[in-house]
Amino acid sequence: MKHLWSFLLILPLAAEDKVPLPGEQPFKTNCAACHMLASVVVGPSLVALAKTYPKDKQEEFTAWAKTPGKKNTNMIQMPSMAHVPEADLGGIHTYILSVTDGIKEKPGKALYPKFKEPKRQLPYVVRASMPDSSPASVGVVLENGLSVCWDTEACRFRYAYVGNKTNLFSIWRPASLPKKPYFIETADVLIHSATSDDKLGIFFPITAKLQFRGYRLVDKNPEFYYTLGSIEIRELIAAGKDPESVIRRFTVTNVDRSLLFDLSHKGKATLSSDKGILKDGRLTLTAEEAKFFTLTIIKK
Ligand code: HEC
Repeated sequence: MKHLWSFLLILPLAAEDKVPLPGEQPFKTNCAACHMLASVVVGPSLVALAKTYPKDKQEEFTAWAKTPGKKNTNMIQMPSMAHVPEADLGGIHTYILSVTDGIKEKPGKALYPKFKEPKRQLPYVVRASMPDSSPASVGVVLENGLSVCWDTEACRFRYAYVGNKTNLFSIWRPASLPKKPYFIETADVLIHSATSDDKLGIFFPITAKLQFRGYRLVDKNPEFYYTLGSIEIRELIAAGKDPESVIRRFTVTNVDRSLLFDLSHKGKATLSSDKGILKDGRLTLTAEEAKFFTLTIIKK
C-alpha cells in the first residue's frame, strides 16, 4: 500500500517536468507542412525519418535538410532547408526522435497508388525488353494463352511461350517469362535466296540490308513489316484454329526467285507450312509460293 501512494504522488510532478523541446517550433515553422507524424503526406512520415536517422545520425540528418537528395521517385524534390540554422536542425532532429518514440507508421495509402495492370483485351501487343532477344522486342499475347516474342531489331520471330501476362515492361531488366519458350528459332539468317530464276537449287543468305518498317494491327493481331533489300516482308502473328497453335502468315512482295526460310528451331513443337517443301526446319518456296504462305506452330 505504501508503495502505491508514493507512486501517485510522483506522477503529477513527472508530467510537469515535460518542457517543450527546443526543436518543436522550428519544426512547425519549416517542416510540418510536408512531414506528418505517422503518415506520408508530401514527404516521408516522422516515424520513417526517425528510422533512417537515429540518434547517431544527426549530422547526416542536417546534411540532408541543407542539401536534400532524391530518393523516393513518387515524391517531389524536397526544397533545401539551408536557411534554417544548424542548431535548429539539430533541435528538429531531437524533437522528431522524441515525438516518434513508440509510434508506428500507419499503413495508410501511398501518395500515388501503385500501378496495377488492367485486364487487357487479347490479343495484346506490347513493346518490351525480353530475354534472349533485343531490347527492342514486341510481346504478342494471344487469346489462347500463348505468347510470342518478336524482335524488331533482328526483324524476326524469336520464340513462342506459354503465358498470358501482358505486363512485360521493366526498365531495369528483360521481362521474366512465366515459362521457358516451347519453340525457339535458332538459325542465324532466316531468309536465303536461290541464285537465279525460279528453280529450286542452291540458296545463299541474302546479304541486303534488313530494315524494320513498323507494324499494324489486323483484327488486333500485329502484322510486322520489314524490308530485305528490295524485298518486302509482312508477318502476321495470330492464334491458330488448332488448340495451342500460333500462326505466322507471310506476305512477301518483290520476289523474282525461289526463297528458303531457315526455320530451324528447338523446343517442343511441330512446325508446318501450307506451301512449299518443309524439310529439317528449312522451307523452300518458289517465288509464286513465297508471295503468301502460312506457318503453323503447334505446341506438343
Ligand atoms: C515542401 C515539402 C517539404 C518540406 C517543407 C520539408 N521536407 Fe523534408 N522531405 C520532403 C520530401 C518530398 C522528401 C522525400 C524526398 C525524396 O525522398 O526524394 C523529404 C525527405 C526528408 C528527409 C528524408 C531523407 C531520407 O534519407 O530519406 C529528411 C531527413 C527531411 N526531409 C527533413 C526535413 C526537415 C528537417 C525539414 C524542415 C527543416 C523538411 N524536411 C522540410 C518534403 C519536404
